[in-house]
Parts: sequence; C-alpha cells; structure tokens
Amino acid sequence: MSDAVQTQSNSKFNKRVFSGIQPSGGLTLGNYLGAVKRFVQMQNEDFETIYCMVDLHAITVWQDPARLKNNTRELAAFYIASGLNPEKSILFNQSAVSEHAELGWMFNCVARMGWMKRMTQFKDKAGKNAENASLGLFGYPALMAADILAYHATHVPVGDDQKQHLELTRDIAAKFNHDFGVDFFPMIDPVIGGPAARVMSLRDGSKKMSKSDPSDQSRINMNDDADTIAQKFRKAKTDQDALPSEESGLENRPEAKNLISIYAALGDQSLEDVLSDVGGKQFSAFKPMLVERAVETLSPISGEMNRLMLDVSEIDRLLKRGADKARAIAAPIVQKTYDIVGLLKP
Ligand code: AMP
Ligand code: TRP
Repeated sequence: MSDAVQTQSNSKFNKRVFSGIQPSGGLTLGNYLGAVKRFVQMQNEDFETIYCMVDLHAITVWQDPARLKNNTRELAAFYIASGLNPEKSILFNQSAVSEHAELGWMFNCVARMGWMKRMTQFKDKAGKNAENASLGLFGYPALMAADILAYHATHVPVGDDQKQHLELTRDIAAKFNHDFGVDFFPMIDPVIGGPAARVMSLRDGSKKMSKSDPSDQSRINMNDDADTIAQKFRKAKTDQDALPSEESGLENRPEAKNLISIYAALGDQSLEDVLSDVGGKQFSAFKPMLVERAVETLSPISGEMNRLMLDVSEIDRLLKRGADKARAIAAPIVQKTYDIVGLLKP
C-alpha cells in the first residue's frame, strides 16, 4: 500500500524462513506443489527454517474441536512425510507459542481498516454474508504478519494466493517502524513462483485447486490412492488439440497449461523442457505419464503420513520440542516489541 513508508534494509537480519499452513483438513496437491515442496528445498539450502501449523488461523472459520487436533497432527505428519526434518526445521503449532497472539494484537492496532477491507481473501471467504463473518477472519492478515515478524523472518514461501497478505505484512512492518521511529521489523521477501505457484482445479482451469471445492474430482488429495489419482487425471478436463511444443502454445488453454505445469513441478523440470519432450502428443498419451509421475511422488508421502499417524504421542512430542525452539526465538523479539510500544511488561 502506497501510504506506508519503507525504511528497512534487511542486511542486519539472518536469512530466516517462516511459513504456515492451516490445519483445516483436506491437504491437496496444491498445498504440496505450491508450498511444502518449496519448504523442503529451502530447508536444504542456506536458510534457518520455521514451519508452522497455523491453528489460530484455522479457527477464524468454524472447526470441530476434536477434528482440529487431529488435523493439526496430520499436517505435521504431512510436513515430515514430505521431507521436512524436525532436526533441521522448527515444526510447531501456532497456538503453542502465545507470542503469535500477543504480537497479533499489537499489529491489530497498527493495521488500518482500509487496508484490511481491500483483502481479496477476506472477501472470498466471507462471501455474500460478510456481516456474519468472524472478526478473526477480518483480522487474519494481521495475525499472519505477526507469525512472520515474531521471528524477524526474511523469506516467506507461499502459493500465489498469499501475495496480497505478504504485501500487507510489509506495510505493517513499515508502519510500525515509522510510527515508533525504529528499524526493528524486516521487510520480508515473498518467495512465490515456479511452475506450480498456482495449481488449478482439474474440472476448471480458471479456478484454484482447493480443499473447499464441492467437487472431489476437482482436486488430488494427498491421501488419494493410486487408482483414485489415475481416475481423477483420466477424467480431468482438457481440450481437443495435441500438446504444443512451446510455452506460447499454452496460451488460452488453461487446462492443458495446468496439467503440464503439474507434471513439470512434480519432476522439477521447466515447462520448456517438458514441452520439448511431450509436444505433439495427445492427452490420451500424456495423461498416463502424468499419473505415473504423480503416483510415484504422492504414494510414498501418503504411506509415510499413515505410518506417522499411528503414533500421535510421538508427533505431539516433536511439536512440543518445536514450540520450545520457536518460543526461544520469538519471546525476546516480542518482549522488545512491548518495550518499543511502551507497554510495561516486566
Ligand atoms: P491453505 O491450505 O489455504 O492454508 O494454504 C497453504 C499453502 O498452500 C499456502 O501457501 C497456499 O498458497 C498454498 N496453496 C493452497 N492451494 C494451492 C494451489 N491450488 N496452488 C498453489 N498453492 C496452493
Ligand atoms: N494465510 C496462509 C494461507 O492461507 C497461512 C498462513 C498463516 C501463513 N500465517 C502464515 C503463511 C505466515 C505464511 C506465513 O495459506
């Protein structure tokens, strides 16, 4: 937003990654390719990495209490099964570290109503009945800013749909720094992109693949078995033409573009490389290749998730350790924030 003043250079901050997913149940291939695959890459690069199950965000819409606990553990299992290593990355659930809610409150007092009203995710989620949406749903992006800035994180990997929230995070950091005359919060770098920043519905190439789509055929769930994956891709919407051999040939062919992008992302290939291989093929020949690649990637992950879920006490133990490590970083930063704001907190 243009009225925020940006004063911060990031040079004094360590390269630290923070990201989160809501444990609201129903993990999809979009979550894996758009978010978690990148989380794993960054863990294995030159970053300190912190990944959260954002349960406080999940309750901005109704969650069944018993299911919420289970979904939180299942998301932890998904993280670990996808390659996040609790020895290398800090993995924990948001509500276990109260600094998130505390800083979130202070940011509620920094963020402006006008900024929040412009958030497209709120408008989408609140739908026609915005009067009946929770206040938490409206304030959601301020809590998200707190998640990130409580760690002085510098890099935030997310899918394309979170871009606006990350811009707001920068605005909150800039306004805080400006209002209090400090250089305290970093200007974060969004990490968005790659072939699968936006995985689309298998039924409609103009809609995001989402766990909230009423049609299960529109998405690949992380716990779909091989037959279900094959059947969903077989039925996935396409057009009549053969596949192009260059990217420009995907223009105005959203379904073709989506399937090619999924295939590329699963195999860590560029669109260009894939198209030079598959250009000229019919969908009937390409779809089995896609199914094979998807099953090869997803089956071991869902198998490992099921195995981990057999021992929830071990997951709880890992999450507690993660929360202790997270708190050790966030507590001094949030304590300093109280001090900057002028709140007496002994
Ligand atoms: P959510 O499930 O909405 O909490 O999303 C968790 C993460 O997955 C965020 O970084 C989203 O941007 C990402 N994500 C969810 N759906 C998709 C999708 N269809 N394509 C790409 N990224 C996605
Ligand atoms: N809003 C994000 C989503 O719906 C989840 C989220 C909450 C998040 N806090 C975050 C993502 C902090 C990145 C960093 O996907």
